[in-house]
Amino acid sequence: MSSQAAHPTLLIPGPIEFDDAVLQSMAHYSESHVGPGFVSTFGDTLSMLRKLFQTTNPASQPFVINGSGTLGWDMVAVNLVEPGENALVLSTGYFGDGFADCLTAYGANVTTITGAVGSRPQPDEIEKALKEKKYKIVTATHVDTSTGVLFDLKTLTDVVKRVSPETLIIADGVCSVACEEIAFDEWGLDGVVTAGQKAIGCPTGLSISMFSGRAIDTVKNRKTEPATYFASMKRWIPIMQNYEAKKPSYFSTPSPQLVHALNTAVSQILARPLSERFQRHIEVSDKVKKAVADLGLKVVAGKPEDQAHAMTAIYLPDSVSIPDVLPKLLNKGIIFAGGLHKEIGSKYVRFGHMGPSAMDPKRSDIDNALQALRDALAECGYKP
Ligand SMILES: Cc1ncc(COP(=O)(O)O)c(C=O)c1O
Repeated sequence: MSSQAAHPTLLIPGPIEFDDAVLQSMAHYSESHVGPGFVSTFGDTLSMLRKLFQTTNPASQPFVINGSGTLGWDMVAVNLVEPGENALVLSTGYFGDGFADCLTAYGANVTTITGAVGSRPQPDEIEKALKEKKYKIVTATHVDTSTGVLFDLKTLTDVVKRVSPETLIIADGVCSVACEEIAFDEWGLDGVVTAGQKAIGCPTGLSISMFSGRAIDTVKNRKTEPATYFASMKRWIPIMQNYEAKKPSYFSTPSPQLVHALNTAVSQILARPLSERFQRHIEVSDKVKKAVADLGLKVVAGKPEDQAHAMTAIYLPDSVSIPDVLPKLLNKGIIFAGGLHKEIGSKYVRFGHMGPSAMDPKRSDIDNALQALRDALAECGYKP
């Protein structure tokens, strides 16, 4: 039995439902952020992130900084690119466009390749762009939470390494870390930025990222000072390294309670093989996509190979609107999110099926949500 107050099940693509033990970790008594107890917890948490991102290269550098997913974009844009340098953004929706805006805000010269709605830029387009000019970085949103489109990072890294090996490869993993396979070392990624509140299952408030030794060297060898104080990786690198070495260090006060929650969430994730976790998210996704097809509905990511496994963006029937269906779902104890794409936002809803709702065999969140969707659509007058 959950110790949480009764509440509708939060099945938006983040924040997600949290495990009791994770929430209870946040009730930890107050500690000094430089005292031995917290330093040890923070250091262990950083070390565990290496396993979560599947990197054993000692040059890889984890960061956990107060903030949210967007801070990861700022870290990339202000530290890895100098004003006037070229950045190639591969966009599959709202969040890819946001990453491009963030890079532009810090002076990068941004080229964006946008996939057709529900699809992603193809390897030949990416190869062509990389041959046309030198890019300092290429960014891809691993799962764009606005569309549920999954990017094929493995193929992307193969293309970039063949055509433009100097280009740094950065993934926005906000909606993919801890639910989609990410082989940081094997694929040769240079940065993955994420946040706690999605598949990692920790309350919002942490920017969590991993950067390669190559990315760290880029930061150290900049010609210009980055136009930031708080997001300066150069300032944070020694702090993260000291914590991991269990030495107290200070640049800006971390949140001990959130770090305790993250420690619990990542410990739970790593207690089982990651492969099992990714496979379970695939199975749940298959079940959701089949139920959607059985209802006679389509998902925004049309092709199976473009479909994320921890969320589904579902086109509503023409006769049903978002303001019709979401309150009916809420009456049945289920919260989905509305659409979030400039061209099709009013036509679909988003169902997040990640973390405890997908992994905890004691929970029936997914079955309940699918039944609630069938019933809510029927109440809206829709017949499959
Ligand atoms: C793929 C993706 N990138 C970036 C962000 C921004 O993260 P945050 O809202 O935590 O700042 C989000 C938020 O949902 C996201 O889904």
